[in-house]
Amino acid sequence: MKNRIEELFRAQLDKISDAELRRKTVDIWTAAALEGGWEPDDLEKIPFTLLTDTHGINLIQHTIAVTEGALGLAGAIQSNSQLPFEINHDFLVAGGLLHDVGKLLEIELTEDGYVKSLHGKHARHPISGAILASRFDMPMAIINMIGCHAKEGDGRPQRVETVLVHQADFATFNPMVMLSKDLLIT
Ligand SMILES: [Fe+2]
Repeated sequence: MKNRIEELFRAQLDKISDAELRRKTVDIWTAAALEGGWEPDDLEKIPFTLLTDTHGINLIQHTIAVTEGALGLAGAIQSNSQLPFEINHDFLVAGGLLHDVGKLLEIELTEDGYVKSLHGKHARHPISGAILASRFDMPMAIINMIGCHAKEGDGRPQRVETVLVHQADFATFNPMVMLSKDLLIT
């Protein structure tokens, strides 16, 4: 499992300069995949959300798109303005890769297809992901990024890296929801 995860996220993992942060990111994904009962070949089949039709976009593709999107946003902002705060690129990549790791516990595959698991009914993925990250002693910045990247973070204190992941996440999610409601002009 670990090898497959490293393979899938190789390009993003290579952008994390802190070796411990990189190792823990892989270890958390591996633990969540095993605890969720998934096989390595399942990873690219899991839909990135159950809330709308994903049109075949899987959790791995979504995770990479959000991580790269957040990095792109950070780069664009940093190269065009003088920011009064730092953006930590290691946190941005590790937190981007981990923001939805809780979905490996929140989603399960049954005869009816992909559905919310009993685990997911108890704790949405921002909560289960934050708990996982905490078990691996991740920095509080990463916990904030996972725990507050969705509606759980609305109106709450957030790291700038959390804001960037949130925006990249919703740039991939909202058009899908709008499309299903016939609100996306195409
Ligand atoms: Fe996401």
